[in-house]
Amino acid sequence: MNVLITGAAGFIGSNFTHYIAAECPDWKVTALDLLTYAGNLENLAVLIERKQVSFVRADIADATAMEQLFAQGRFDIVFHLAAESHVDRSIQGARAFAQANVLGTQTLLDCALASRVKRFVHISTDEVYGSLGPTGRFVETTPLDPTSPYSASKASSDLMVLACGKTHGLEVIVTRCTNNYGPYQFPEKLIPLFITNAIEDQALPLYGDGMNVRSWLHVRDHCQALLLAAQRGRPGEVYNVGGSAEAEIPNVAVTKAILQILDKPTSLIKKVGDRPAHDRRYAIDYSKSKAELGWQPTIPFEQGLQSTVRWYLDNEAWWRKIKSGEYLKFYEKNYGNR
Ligand code: NAD
Ligand code: DAU
Repeated sequence: MNVLITGAAGFIGSNFTHYIAAECPDWKVTALDLLTYAGNLENLAVLIERKQVSFVRADIADATAMEQLFAQGRFDIVFHLAAESHVDRSIQGARAFAQANVLGTQTLLDCALASRVKRFVHISTDEVYGSLGPTGRFVETTPLDPTSPYSASKASSDLMVLACGKTHGLEVIVTRCTNNYGPYQFPEKLIPLFITNAIEDQALPLYGDGMNVRSWLHVRDHCQALLLAAQRGRPGEVYNVGGSAEAEIPNVAVTKAILQILDKPTSLIKKVGDRPAHDRRYAIDYSKSKAELGWQPTIPFEQGLQSTVRWYLDNEAWWRKIKSGEYLKFYEKNYGNR
């Protein structure tokens, strides 16, 4: 099998590239990434050194570069993870999100069609469904109701992908996953930001009342779902992927769990102004993935959080390099006036 993984130097992309290299050692893997602020080639260094993957630096929205790559690559499967992924950055400026997530995805679809790709797996998010009240869970037929520029751009790309399947017959599969956590996550997202701030005895900026609920899934479980979706998913279908009921946790409880593991005081928690249009609660019904893909989460949140904290303690050099330069400008802009 000849596969392309986009966004391969990002958080989920790099975990997925490692996962595929281990689970499918006979696959020929091309790892593509533009290496934006969120992409880090160090995440793939071992695989590149051992020639287990070949790396291409390119922009998925660059039609000429993508046409050349697809013509030469003759890919059987595309796993499309490349995206601008942070809600707070999309609030600061939506243009990059429309460019990468919508135009970039359409560029890949055009190239996949022209080069007769067999399967196109589009990695999306539960955020396309919007916000839940205190009860209920998202199912695949829940109407799309995105609230941030990020989730709106992901919903748009989902629709372009599904339309391409219907109109042109490309075998497309869309996965919609809840919040991931684990190694190599950029420290702008809640869990790695709070772990690294706590290690440094810095304040943990908790938005609003801290009672927004997210459904947490260890990234390894997500990787398994993506491979199964490619192998067993039905073309044109959407599959929800996400945490179990026990992993649906308010942010303040996640924050306290991190502090407890690190033996740090709760006085580090700093309540700050809320995120605009902050989705109150996400929870997912993954019974379709369980029935059709044979997938369900396997890593309990407590265990996954422990090992993730351990990873950040063991890999200080990785995140300390990131938490400087451009990152500090973003941090000041996002948190300065809250
Ligand atoms: P990330 O920001 O860590 O990684 C995204 C990667 O895409 C980066 O390496 C970046 O350099 C690359 N990229 C961005 N624009 C590009 C472009 N124009 N061309 C090529 N590469 C580009 O994000 P992530 O958390 O790993 O998310 C990966 C995918 O999974 C995204 O599509 C996201 O919407 C989706 N997702 C994420 C989560 C989560 O909790 N993190 C949950 C569900 C779905
Ligand atoms: O649900 C899947 C989505 O999960 C993915 O599609 C996104 O790419 C990913 O970023 C994530 O989105 P969230 O907005 O839920 O993740 P984030 O880590 O930014 O925030 C998680 C929760 O924590 C959310 O309720 C906002 C809150 N938060 C976040 C940050 C960064 C804080 O209270 N303080 C913070 O500093």
